[in-house]
Parts: sequence; structure tokens; C-alpha cells
Amino acid sequence: MRPHTAVAHSNIALIKYWGKRSDALNLPAVGSLSLTLEAFSTTTTVTLDTSLREDAFAWAHGESDDASTRVQHFLNLVRRDARSSVHAVVSTANNFPTAAGLASSASGFAALARAATSAYGLQLDDRALSMLARRGSGSAARSVFGGFVLQHRGERDDGDDCFAEPLDAATTWPLRMIIAITSRAPKAIDSRSAMRLCCEQSPYYSAWVGSHPADLAAARTMIEARDFPGLAQIVEHNAFKMHACMLAANPPLLYWSGATIDAVRAIQELRATGVAACCTIDAGPQVKVLCEDAAAERVQRSLAEIPGVLSVIDSGPGPGCHLIDP
Ligand code: PMV
Repeated sequence: MRPHTAVAHSNIALIKYWGKRSDALNLPAVGSLSLTLEAFSTTTTVTLDTSLREDAFAWAHGESDDASTRVQHFLNLVRRDARSSVHAVVSTANNFPTAAGLASSASGFAALARAATSAYGLQLDDRALSMLARRGSGSAARSVFGGFVLQHRGERDDGDDCFAEPLDAATTWPLRMIIAITSRAPKAIDSRSAMRLCCEQSPYYSAWVGSHPADLAAARTMIEARDFPGLAQIVEHNAFKMHACMLAANPPLLYWSGATIDAVRAIQELRATGVAACCTIDAGPQVKVLCEDAAAERVQRSLAEIPGVLSVIDSGPGPGCHLIDP
């Protein structure tokens, strides 16, 4: 049957999602706010094949991450909605390191959601697509949209109010994300297991969840006002609070390398001299620096000088996920 191909871009959360209120429906314990990135993308092709007895998943470039079980579970959701029992061949390519804290699961499940719903003939609007993508990975809901994106925590047990939507305000604010790669190795512990460990074993988890809505509200206000210093302060506070929660888990979760800390210090020193830049870190050792356009060159130079920084990648805001003609 005809192949259906979709491209989705990864996104980096400025206000983080960390922790679940339901494992079964993959509902987040907190909302989140992200920027979709132009530079990192996943291209996924889904082709239905009536002769298959199970789904066949392959990385186009032979990555080592074994995602086939998660992909099969995800396709089961799509098949259930489409009332189909046909299996599929899924081929995926990332233009960046997989499972290394660069949000490959975000772009991966957004691309899979778009390609698979098209292949199985499901008509979903973007909000419904974000809810489906969320079932694969919480951050994937946000990669359905471009630019700044808000993911709602929602209150309902059935998850019907737990969707992502774009924040229009952001499209006219020229910002960039500069990423310092400090390791290309896959992370030691995946975010799903790490979140569970935090929820069960970190005494700071309830403080993280309880103080989160104020961070989200503050970040939205700063974005609407184009207040970079205000946004910088809340972005760093939120990221370090998440990592404090991880560090307080038992056993502790420490994703940073020495170069991670050196990069954070370099950016904080730059900011003290008036450069509009701030850091965020996910479940991995890479440092993501949000900055104004005018600061991008200074930030890149400063990161590239740090021993242990393997490469520096500059990205503008990226588009939402979309089907392409292969
Ligand atoms: O979508 P997941 O399950 O890979 O979790 C993402 C968690 C963080 O990247 C650390 C934060 C976020 O909001 O993206």
C-alpha cells in the first residue's frame, strides 16, 4: 500500500513537564511550555501491509535505540480508533542523536502520529493529534505545533482536556535556541523510569508539582510582554527546580557532565554582562540556551570555547509536524 510520510521537529520545554498523573493515559502531572526547533527533525514513513503478522519497525540509519515495542503499542492505539487489524512497516530517521536529551521522542511520536493516522485513514484535527501523540511521549504533544507551544495539564481523568496548542504571541519574537552537545551517548535512564523514580522516591516531588502552575503562568506573562530578563529568570528557575527534584531522588538522578555545568556558568556570566540568554537542561547532559537573535553569535562563541563541548548547534523556531510527499 502507499507509504505515508511525516516530518516533525523536536521541541525544548522552557517550563518543563516532569511526572505523570496517569501512567495508563500518559497524563502529565504538570503543564508545560516549549519552543519547537527548526534544526532537529524526525522523518517517519508508515506503510500498511496486509501480509504482515506483526508491525515491522526500523531506523533508517541503524540507530541502537530499541523503540519497536513503544511503536507497536502506539500503532495499536491508532488501529483501535481506525477499527483496523492491518500491520505496518515503520521507518524512521532522525537528523540528530537519538535518546540523548535532544527530545527525539517528541519529534518521533509526533511524526509517527501524523504518518500513522494518515496511513490508517483517521481524520484528526491538530488538538486531537496532540492528544494521540501524547500517548507515545508526553513531550510529543507539543511537537504537533510550531513556535511556542503550551501543553495543558488538564483535570479530567479521561484526558480530554489534556492537549497542546500554539501560543501565537511567540511568532513575532525573534529568539533562537543554541544547543551545546556535551555527549552523544544515549542517556543511562529513560525519562519514563526517571519520572517514576522521582515521583516515588524524591521528597521534593510534591514541591515541584505544587509550585509549577505559578512558573507556567509567569512564563506566559513574560512571553506576552516580550520580557526576556523575566522569562530568563523563570526558565532557569524551573529547569533547576526539576533537576533538584531529580537529585533528591533515591538513588539520585544526575544527568549532567562537567561540561554541562561549565556551559551553564558561561551563560550566567554572559547574562550578567547584559547578554539576553538563559539555560535549560532536560534529562540529558546537553545545555540548551534560549537567546535573543542579537545574542546568538556571542552565545555560540562562548559555548564553543568550553572544553568538553563537542559541538554547538543553532536553531530558530521550527514548524509543526506535517505530511510530505516522499
Ligand atoms: O516526553 P518525555 O517522556 O520524553 O519527557 C520529557 C521530559 C523533559 O524533556 C525532561 C521535559 C519536557 O517537558 O520536555
